[in-house]
Amino acid sequence: VRPLKIALLGCGVVGTEVVRLLVTHQADFAARVGVPLELAGIAVRRAGRRRDVPVDPDLFTTDAAALVRRGDIDLVIEVIGGIEPARSLILAALENGASVVTANKALLAEDGATLFAAAEKHGADLYYEASVGGAIPLIRPLRESLAGDRVRRVLGIVNGTTNFVLDRMDTEGTGFSEALEEAQELGYAEADPTADVEGFDAAAKAAILAGLAFHTRVLASDVHREGITEVTAIDIESARAMGCVVKLLAIAELSADGSGVGVRVHPAMIPRDHPLASVREAYNAVFVESAAAGQLMFYGAGAGGAPTASAVLGDLVTVARNRVQSARGAAASTYAQLEVHPMGET
Ligand code: HSE
Repeated sequence: VRPLKIALLGCGVVGTEVVRLLVTHQADFAARVGVPLELAGIAVRRAGRRRDVPVDPDLFTTDAAALVRRGDIDLVIEVIGGIEPARSLILAALENGASVVTANKALLAEDGATLFAAAEKHGADLYYEASVGGAIPLIRPLRESLAGDRVRRVLGIVNGTTNFVLDRMDTEGTGFSEALEEAQELGYAEADPTADVEGFDAAAKAAILAGLAFHTRVLASDVHREGITEVTAIDIESARAMGCVVKLLAIAELSADGSGVGVRVHPAMIPRDHPLASVREAYNAVFVESAAAGQLMFYGAGAGGAPTASAVLGDLVTVARNRVQSARGAAASTYAQLEVHPMGET
């Protein structure tokens, strides 16, 4: 059986975990997909850097553009983040007929339409469960499970770094900068943590969720955004005195007449007995309110290498299975064509 070949773009906190899990559990992946998955190349920015991954060092390359254009690549995982070169690489991969799995919320919320159009044009899969809420299944529930319902509101905590910082400030009295440094060390923050603390990351995620929930196109720039840089120890103390805790919330809701959607990200005071108040450290929680289902709550690890890799690898199994099935489908239709001729008449 020919293995499916994977190109990994980026080998930071998430990429490292993707490699580790792929290599450690390769027999499980082969069994779940039906054919082995083979890591064929890992694109990194700097060659020669010591990386704690259990693979042949020859797999590393700094030429990501050449890697995604290789004729033998079936699946591309993009965990570089940011707009460029991620966008050009994903487009080149789709054009090359590869299926793509990405965790790139910033890119999806800025130019998802271009990526989806390219995927459709080339008949390729583009999956992005890891882009919002780390390990928490949110994209599929909104896109598939709730597709027959009418979502009215999506509300929650979608940035692990800011939740970690606010939680440390609240429970340990840690200063903002110190708590942020700790979140960076734990691998929760973006390469530039301004994206977290200024609310850009949460705004991108809110845009993606709103687009799916309300079947429309929402850009990160459509989201009213306020980060947590202005939240002081005094604010947290005052919230506590009122029986509240400060959280960075992302809210997307349908207008009262159902004709528009409002999306915003801002710090808010939450009563301590509200379920969102008990979301600690880098965990995320999202409530979805819809007409028939009522209220649903999604909760789990929202940031970090292993949780995000879990979502990436779930998508990888799905897109790999789709390829195996369409290959089988092609074989089956060839067989069916042969069957058209009645026995003995050829
Ligand atoms: N920096 C992001 C966060 C990573 O803190 O939530 C997960 O998307």
